[in-house]
Amino acid sequence: MTETASHASRADMVDICRRMNSSGINQGTAGNLSLRTGDTFLITPSSLAYDKMEPEDIVEMDFDGTYEGRRRPSSEWRFHRDILAARKDINVVLHCHSIYATTLAVHHKTIPSFHYMTGVAGGTTIRCAKYATFGTQALSDYALEALEGRLACLLGQHGQISLGADLEKALWLGIEVETISRLYVQALTLGEPPILSDEEMARVLKQMDQMSYGQAPDLEGVNDTARPRQAADA
Ligand code: 13P
Repeated sequence: MTETASHASRADMVDICRRMNSSGINQGTAGNLSLRTGDTFLITPSSLAYDKMEPEDIVEMDFDGTYEGRRRPSSEWRFHRDILAARKDINVVLHCHSIYATTLAVHHKTIPSFHYMTGVAGGTTIRCAKYATFGTQALSDYALEALEGRLACLLGQHGQISLGADLEKALWLGIEVETISRLYVQALTLGEPPILSDEEMARVLKQMDQMSYGQAPDLEGVNDTARPRQAADA
């Protein structure tokens, strides 16, 4: 990567981090973010508030765990490294302690298909990974397990992880996971809600697979196809 491209990526990461805070999914020095940059990856520094963070504070790491930069990498570099190494379908790992996702995570609850939007994470559930101390290899192993076939998971008694092909998509998903978590917590106050069938979720997932959500082409036999006015008149 050229120096200019590297600076632009670091600046984009700072922007996404600040938006994690302004969207309400993160606060203080919790949370971290990484971005694949070919053979290496960029990761946020440990324990630095996002409003104080500059592009030069972002750390460059190799997949062998060595790093270069004026700051130490996030204490969670292991799960960032392991997820980026295992999941070639994504380029960004976002972690935060958003309130409602973490509320479910402290109870080790998996989010079921109580609402079709559970499907945004790529399956019929958003799993909760087993607890392990922050920054450990065990936490990384549990996170990878919970992310099998998914783009997001909760971390037991800790927070959430959302993945994306790019920075914007990872932030979008982090906010969606928080929203669906909030809905679930709210729904639970009236008792455990009913679950959509696997057959219905298969339809939803097929539709979402052809994302962007809402922009997906209608599925034959599933949607009442809306047509632009001109085509309808013809
Ligand atoms: P870092 O500041 O080291 O990234 O740690 C924050 C955190 O959320 C740990 O899980």
